[in-house]
Amino acid sequence: MLESGALSEAVILVGGQGTRLKPLTCYLPKPMLPVLNHPFLEHTITYLKGYGVGDITLALNYLPEAIQGCLGDGSRLGVSLNYAVEASPLGTAGAVKNAERYLDSTFAVLNGDIFTDLDITDMLAFHRRKGAKVTIALTRVDNPSAFGVVETDSDGRVERFTEKPGPERITSNWINAGTYIIEPEVLGYVPENSHYMFERGLFPLLLELNEPVYGYPFSGYWLDMGTPEKYLCLNCDLLLNKVSNHLIPGLGRESISCGEDVIIHPSARVTGPVVIGSRSQIGRRASITGPIVIGADCYLGEDAGIEEAILWDGVSIGAGARLKQCIVGTSCRIAGGEQVVDCVVTQGDSGLPNRGRLRVD
Ligand code: GTP
Repeated sequence: MLESGALSEAVILVGGQGTRLKPLTCYLPKPMLPVLNHPFLEHTITYLKGYGVGDITLALNYLPEAIQGCLGDGSRLGVSLNYAVEASPLGTAGAVKNAERYLDSTFAVLNGDIFTDLDITDMLAFHRRKGAKVTIALTRVDNPSAFGVVETDSDGRVERFTEKPGPERITSNWINAGTYIIEPEVLGYVPENSHYMFERGLFPLLLELNEPVYGYPFSGYWLDMGTPEKYLCLNCDLLLNKVSNHLIPGLGRESISCGEDVIIHPSARVTGPVVIGSRSQIGRRASITGPIVIGADCYLGEDAGIEEAILWDGVSIGAGARLKQCIVGTSCRIAGGEQVVDCVVTQGDSGLPNRGRLRVD
């Protein structure tokens, strides 16, 4: 086991379907949803690579082929990818136990649906300084009732976990941010081939055993992409450069970034920030008002107008249609003249588009 030196290994937890994102996740696992036209996982992988973490294991159970087929051995992204596939979900800690054969030094674990600019090098230095067996990144939220609250002493040592506390049980606004640094011997406490969670199983057990578990508070960007609204928000934040990304550098309020062979009619009005995928066509007098992401092979008809929207690949918007605050799934067609506001539009089994609400409670 390495006691010093840089971090080189990580596990990304790529779990369930993400029930609050259905139907966007019927055919795509949540971490493969396109963000700036790249699968979300590519952002996480390039983030880790930026910290020199090049040996990455994806712990998977839902639609594993979709992920393996797209990311392969990782060489396209300049990392080495391993896959630990569960026959049935093993829980957060059980999934990492299932990847144990790929882990032989201090490693990071990341929830596969979190976008953050947390400084992993600084977190590792904190972990080593404290002599921790597990360090949990902590982020501050106004209302922690939907999260796992973590209480620490003045030195940062964890004293208590409270999962999803009701208003009367909220004792801290610092929550588990879903990024951990872990010493490999800790996996000795995790049962093999059993469903076992970090939050309700391993971490409370380590406290009982008086093992050193620390909380690392940070104040950077943190977003859980668990609902359509949050997913839209993440894309907008990246377009506006509220947080930077490694895949399309240089984004900002005015930016217009186009893939290959994009055709924009000279009379169309494009206001940034906008990302447009390859071969898409923007028709006569169409108007695009960012933040907007348009996928590859999309078509915007004459006089169509879109504002704050994410269009996946192959979307077609009829002449004069208006879209605002929408997510439109692959190959959907919006008829000419339609008005679509605050919606998630996906292709139904009948071939006709289904509409759902953007905001779910
Ligand atoms: P989902 O919406 O079901 O994805 O999970 P969640 O957002 O409610 O998060 P939860 O706290 O249950 O899980 C934290 C992270 O671990 C998420 O990225 C999950 O996808 C992932 N995860 C949860 N359970 C499992 C599991 O059994 N196996 C694997 N590989 N990952 C899991």
